[in-house]
Amino acid sequence: MSVNVETRVDAPGSAEYAEAAWDLKERIREREGVLKQRRTFFVDAYRRAEDHLLFEEDDLVGFASVRRDGYILFLAVAPERRGEGYGKRLVAAALQDHDSISCHARATNEDALSFYEHLGFEIQRRITGYYEDGGDAYYLRLGDGATLRERFADFFRRSVVGE
Ligand SMILES: CC(C)(COP(=O)(O)OP(=O)(O)OC[C@H]1O[C@@H](n2cnc3c(N)ncnc32)[C@H](O)[C@@H]1OP(=O)(O)O)[C@@H](O)C(=O)NCCC(=O)NCCS
Repeated sequence: MSVNVETRVDAPGSAEYAEAAWDLKERIREREGVLKQRRTFFVDAYRRAEDHLLFEEDDLVGFASVRRDGYILFLAVAPERRGEGYGKRLVAAALQDHDSISCHARATNEDALSFYEHLGFEIQRRITGYYEDGGDAYYLRLGDGATLRERFADFFRRSVVGE
């Protein structure tokens, strides 16, 4: 059975789905020990960002919050919905508005690092003690928007259909 996936956007200044995004982030933090940002930081950053959200019916299954400069603040896909292309689709949505995108990932977050590298992100540097709990991060970047947009063309088409 095919599931209808709908793309919704919280434009900068809007936080209509901030609570649903927070609940998904917290579910992942509790299970996986990643996405540890505190609530005040999260809600403030979410509101300032362009937030791309994927819904199956009314269930939020993934979201990406992207800053004005193309930096991905948060990227999350529900654990039971991983491996279905949702993460890639959210990165593709960010790429529609930016020539290059970047992010940080926890040095111990092997799933996220493998995912980003698989999509063509390159590690630029390691930052010691980047996180509040003392954890290290990698700073990653995906450049050359034109080529990438071509590569993700299929996903752009699908995102448009989903809107
Ligand atoms: C990272 C994350 C967003 C990936 O989401 P996802 O929906 O499972 O990823 P997708 O299904 O879109 O995968 C896209 C591609 O990456 C590959 N990929 C995904 N996870 C991978 C992994 N752990 N190792 C290797 N490749 C991986 C997929 O095989 C797929 O390849 P394909 O396009 O050739 O078929 C998800 O695991 C997640 O939410 N993790 C917890 C939160 C987190 O760590 N966020 C990042 C914080 S920096």
